[in-house]
Amino acid sequence: MRDRLVAAARTAALKAHAPYSRFGVGAAVLLADGSVITGANFENASYGLSLCAETVALATASSAGHLTDAVAVAVIGGVIDANGVPRGVAVVGPCGRCRQVINEAAQLGGRDITVWCAAAEGEAIERYLLSELLPHAFGPSDLGIGN
Ligand code: THU
Repeated sequence: MRDRLVAAARTAALKAHAPYSRFGVGAAVLLADGSVITGANFENASYGLSLCAETVALATASSAGHLTDAVAVAVIGGVIDANGVPRGVAVVGPCGRCRQVINEAAQLGGRDITVWCAAAEGEAIERYLLSELLPHAFGPSDLGIGN
């Protein structure tokens, strides 16, 4: 499952819209039923409006009615080459904002979420729990929502 999720994130990254940073990121969200929803980073000429891959993937999952079904997320990234393919062996982890977005799914789903971090290429894959990446998180429960 881990390798399938990383592969899905790598495929998703091929559709990154990242002409400004030239850094392609792909994310794949594993749902409890085994299905996978993906996203890629979606940049904007007004740089600050850019969306990260994990956020796109989780918003897509939410739009399909599956935000609370997420059990794991894989993220990969790398510098986009002349053919539009992200390259490199440096492992990428979710940015701070994406950790908060993943936490929304984790808290509302009532489970910790596994986060697989990998590179555009190579074998290195690191496994974390969201609770390790974002300890003492603020979330829905602070507002009396969900679990
Ligand atoms: N990016 C992501 O998609 N996810 C992250 O967790 C980190 C950063 C994107 C944002 C921007 O399009 C590019 O990577 C360079 O920062």
